Amino acid sequence: MAEQAIPLRRTLLANAVVLTPSWGALVILYGVGELSGRATLIAMAGIALLTGLLVQRYLGTLARFARFVGELSDEREPVMPRLSFAPATEELATAAATLAVGWRRQRASIDNLAASAQAIVDGLPDPLISVDRQRRIVRTNLAAVSLLGAVGAERDLSTVLRQPQLLAAIDALLETGADGNFSRADQSAVELALAGPPELDLIAHLRRLPRAAADGSLALIVLHDTTALRRAERMRADFVANASHELKTPIAGLAGFIETLRGPARDDAVARERFLGIMAEQADRMRRLVDDLLMLSRIEQHEHARPDAAVDLGRVLRSVMDLLQLKASSRNVKIELGFDPALPPAVGDFDELTIVFQNLIDNAVKYARPATTVKIAVRPVGSDRLAVAVSDEGDGIPATHLPRLTERFYRVDTARSRQLGGTGLGLAIVKHVVNRHRGRLDIQSSPGKGSTFTVTLPAVR
Ligand SMILES: Nc1ncnc2c1ncn2[C@@H]1O[C@H](COP(=O)(O)OP(=O)(O)OP(=O)(O)O)[C@@H](O)[C@H]1O
Ligand SMILES: [Mg+2]
Repeated sequence: MAEQAIPLRRTLLANAVVLTPSWGALVILYGVGELSGRATLIAMAGIALLTGLLVQRYLGTLARFARFVGELSDEREPVMPRLSFAPATEELATAAATLAVGWRRQRASIDNLAASAQAIVDGLPDPLISVDRQRRIVRTNLAAVSLLGAVGAERDLSTVLRQPQLLAAIDALLETGADGNFSRADQSAVELALAGPPELDLIAHLRRLPRAAADGSLALIVLHDTTALRRAERMRADFVANASHELKTPIAGLAGFIETLRGPARDDAVARERFLGIMAEQADRMRRLVDDLLMLSRIEQHEHARPDAAVDLGRVLRSVMDLLQLKASSRNVKIELGFDPALPPAVGDFDELTIVFQNLIDNAVKYARPATTVKIAVRPVGSDRLAVAVSDEGDGIPATHLPRLTERFYRVDTARSRQLGGTGLGLAIVKHVVNRHRGRLDIQSSPGKGSTFTVTLPAVR
């Protein structure tokens, strides 16, 4: 600790104050003739010398005490200086040190509280931004940073969210009337579309706090991502439109044939026979469509509940092969199954897995080139999964179609699928069943060579 010089003025003043009584007494003694002039001067000089020394040491101690207290408030942990010379300073210094420890402990607990508050805000899954009365950003959480990038505090909200409706809504929320009170309701909501990428639909919930928080925050903005919801709404609308469209064609066909049979072809036995055949085909198509739609909705309804029976995949695959044998022979397609009976059973639902492989093998047979082989192979994946691969030698599927193949009614070649009697729902059903089984569907295809659809399922351990 470097000793600091004590200002001369303070030294002189302190000396003057301490010397006044004794010098005063000497002067009075001299005045009444009790002391000679010489003795008075010598006494005054002696007292001044001693007092000077004592005052110097006293002031030095006080200066050390002041420095010690200063260092305490600087949040350093100073060493207690020797203060024995000035009475009471040691006690004062100890009290100040105790005070500083308590103060530091309080500061730490306030810092902890602030950190916990930020941790809670950061833990929120939705982006949160708080702004002050001037619409400047005060606080953001992690989700907001990952959506908007690092946001410098104290910037106007418009620099990160250029959304006129949002800014107008926030301005309205913070607007005060002539009496200084807020003039609007303390919450509102605005729908936003962020250009992206990725494009996002958001709903911003705005809320004004009853009074400004310690950090200046006065309004909170929580952004809730509604992209999935909007997409689901669009999908539902598309689905209804598609389903109606799929039904419309056979219904129109049937109505047309009924009309013809009632009119021009009333007495034409050959035409009647042909038309009735086509009508039966159309009715069958509608039945299949309705069956598939019902199945989809049934699977969707309990998609969250995982099936847990042990299913012998060999039995499932052989029964599907038997069912499709006739269709395959008519196209001169061979179905080959590679299955090791030592493999463990899969965890699932027998009927639903039958539907999955019926769809996949039916597609393979349907889209294979004549005189080729559809191969089904089952192999273990790790210790707890089984992969069933269905490969065909068909025309394959261009890569651009692969991501959308499992959407309802999505077909690569709509006319061809319809002509082959397809509803375009097969793979959508497959995907839903596989999801319910917590499995996965992988599609590999090389146009001109063929496709492989692989279903991976959990196995009994
Ligand atoms: N093995 C395959 N080879 C080539 N294209 C295929 C194959 N499997 C499916 N596809 C394509 O994917 C589309 C969707 O298949 P999906 O099984 O969903 O419908 P679908 O077979 O046309 O009708 P459904 O199965 O309802 O009778 C098909 O229309 C076809 O274009
Ligand atoms: Mg199909």
